Amino acid sequence: MSRPEISVRDLHKSFGDNQVLRGIDLEIGQGEVVCVIGPSGSGKSTLLRCVNLLEEPTKGQVFVGGTEVTDPDVDIDAVRRRIGMVFQQFNLFPHLSVTENLTLPQRRVLKRDKAQAARIAAENLARVGLAEKADAYPASLSGGQQQRVAIARALAMGPEVMLFDEPTSALDPELVGDVLAVMRGLAREGMTMMVVTHEMTFAREVADRVVFMDGGVIVEDGRPDQVIGAPRHERTRHFLSRLLDPAMAEVEEDVPDQGGTGRP
Ligand SMILES: Nc1ncnc2c1ncn2[C@@H]1O[C@H](COP(=O)(O)OP(=O)(O)OP(=O)(O)O)[C@@H](O)[C@H]1O
Ligand SMILES: [Mg+2]
Repeated sequence: MSRPEISVRDLHKSFGDNQVLRGIDLEIGQGEVVCVIGPSGSGKSTLLRCVNLLEEPTKGQVFVGGTEVTDPDVDIDAVRRRIGMVFQQFNLFPHLSVTENLTLPQRRVLKRDKAQAARIAAENLARVGLAEKADAYPASLSGGQQQRVAIARALAMGPEVMLFDEPTSALDPELVGDVLAVMRGLAREGMTMMVVTHEMTFAREVADRVVFMDGGVIVEDGRPDQVIGAPRHERTRHFLSRLLDPAMAEVEEDVPDQGGTGRP
């Protein structure tokens, strides 16, 4: 692997008695795309949120670009500037135009002047294929277009890594493709990306690695053709079979478990 851009070491996170992350070790190299998959509640969002310190880990370390972000003395704002985050909900300001949504954080956080912020906004809108929507308001855009604006807003800050938490889950199926195409382009440009997603086709085609999480641990971590195509663990197989055929999984639930690996 090239130099690790993201390093997670023995990461634990509890909410009260609820141990959500139970010792995560993960290295993501520069330019690498890692898709994180796993059942609801397995800790995928919590892991992403610990990487950019939206959550404070209970134990363990996180490094981004060689800086320990879990160091108590770290400049959190400086760390967050290096990490772009895209959520399921786009969180655009409805009363601001698309351009203003992109220039506001640049001016507030990076102290760029108006002209420079506008130029960088325009570049990044073009990058996501929405140059012509610069003066539109979010309400007039489709969900897929709003998500692409949210991606452009993150990119305008010049991040070293991008974290995506189910960026297409809130979208109508016909709008998913445009967002994934933008992400595919970013991957091709060499952006380091950590993507929580249920889009297995995207994971297979774009990810360098797929990480399967269950119960707050990484169960399996490998190339997509291995983890998705030939999973080694029963828990991974079970998850994938449910994802690919939810109706089948319901039938399966009625059948008593015949062994398997068992949960921790
Ligand atoms: N801020 C919080 N306070 C208390 N509990 C939390 C908090 N955030 C997450 N949890 C709990 O942590 C567990 C894992 O949540 P998380 O959102 O990381 O799962 P996930 O894998 O992203 O699930 P999903 O696929 O549904 O998004 C859940 O039991 C959840 O209730
Ligand atoms: Mg989640």
